[in-house]
Order: sequence, then structure tokens, then C-alpha cells
Amino acid sequence: MSDPRIALCPGSFDPLTLGHEDVVRRALAFADRVVVAVSHSPTTAKQAMFTVEERVEMIREAFAGEPRVEAAAFQGLLVDFARRRGASLVVRGVRGGVDWEYESQMAVMNRRLLSTLETVILPGDPMHAHVSSTLVRQIAGLGGDVAPFLSPAVLRRVRTRAAT
Ligand code: PNS
Repeated sequence: MSDPRIALCPGSFDPLTLGHEDVVRRALAFADRVVVAVSHSPTTAKQAMFTVEERVEMIREAFAGEPRVEAAAFQGLLVDFARRRGASLVVRGVRGGVDWEYESQMAVMNRRLLSTLETVILPGDPMHAHVSSTLVRQIAGLGGDVAPFLSPAVLRRVRTRAAT
């Protein structure tokens, strides 16, 4: 039997949005397992809504019914994490032209660093084209309704955090 094809869906996920969830579910069509990889970023940690551990927990809750999806935190280079996990794919969603520039640059650079690591860039579902974690944090912090952008498990956590 051939090795399972493992895909990483890396990101900050502060918090996980329905746009992210859509990309993870679509990755399951061509990967055997998907690891949703939450990056530790010391530079943005101060402004974060959730700790990395909380983000991993909320991803586990959101994908509780999907045994092929796993959540994990990583520090350092994505390519090193990919090596450790035996991943051959990185999957990222793009919402538009601005995202594309950044994503294609990262994809090429990651492949320079680890030639066996290929990136699949999925066009985001237009339903979620305007959704970003940054906007969700801002709207929730100012008392707006973020229910249309988050799954129930994530929404509960965001509402609790925004109220404190
Ligand atoms: O959700 P984000 O913040 O757009 O995700 C960016 C992320 C985490 C995928 C990217 O910053 C990353 O891969 N960070 C790990 C460090 C790394 O490998 N940097 C070099 C990328 S070419």
C-alpha cells in the first residue's frame, strides 16, 4: 500500500472561519489526511484573540466528526513541520488577487526550501470571499454579529471572549 497523502492547512486561525473550514474540507478530496497547522507567531501574539492552544482546541471541536482532520500547533518553519509530519502538500485558500501574490510567493519559497513539498492553492468559495479572521475579531470586539462567518463551536468561544 502507498503512503498516505498528508496535506497541511497552515495558518493563524485566530479564529477559524467558515472560509478556512471550506478549504480544509475540500482538501480531503485529494489528501488522505489533513493537518490543520496553527502557527505560533511571537510578533502577533499580543494582539491575538485566542492562544495557540485555544485555536487548536476550537479546530478539534469544529472537525470532531471528521477523523481524517487533525489539529496541531507548530513553531518555526512550515517546511520543518512538513518534514516531521511526512506531509507532501500544503493547501491554502485565496480570496482574490492580493492573496494570490502572497500565496504564490510562499508556495515557491516553500518549494525552494523543501523540493518535495507542493502547494495547492484553492480559490475561495465566493460565499466566504469577504471573510477574514481579522475582520471577525474586529466586528466581534465592537459588538457586531459574526454568526454568519463561524461554525457554532467557534462562535461560542468568540462571543465569550468578546464579552470579557
Ligand atoms: O493565516 P496566515 O497568517 O496567513 O498564515 C501564514 C502562515 C502561518 C501560513 C505563514 O506565515 C507560515 O507558513 N509561517 C511559518 C514560518 C515559515 O515557514 N515562513 C516562511 C514561509 S515561505
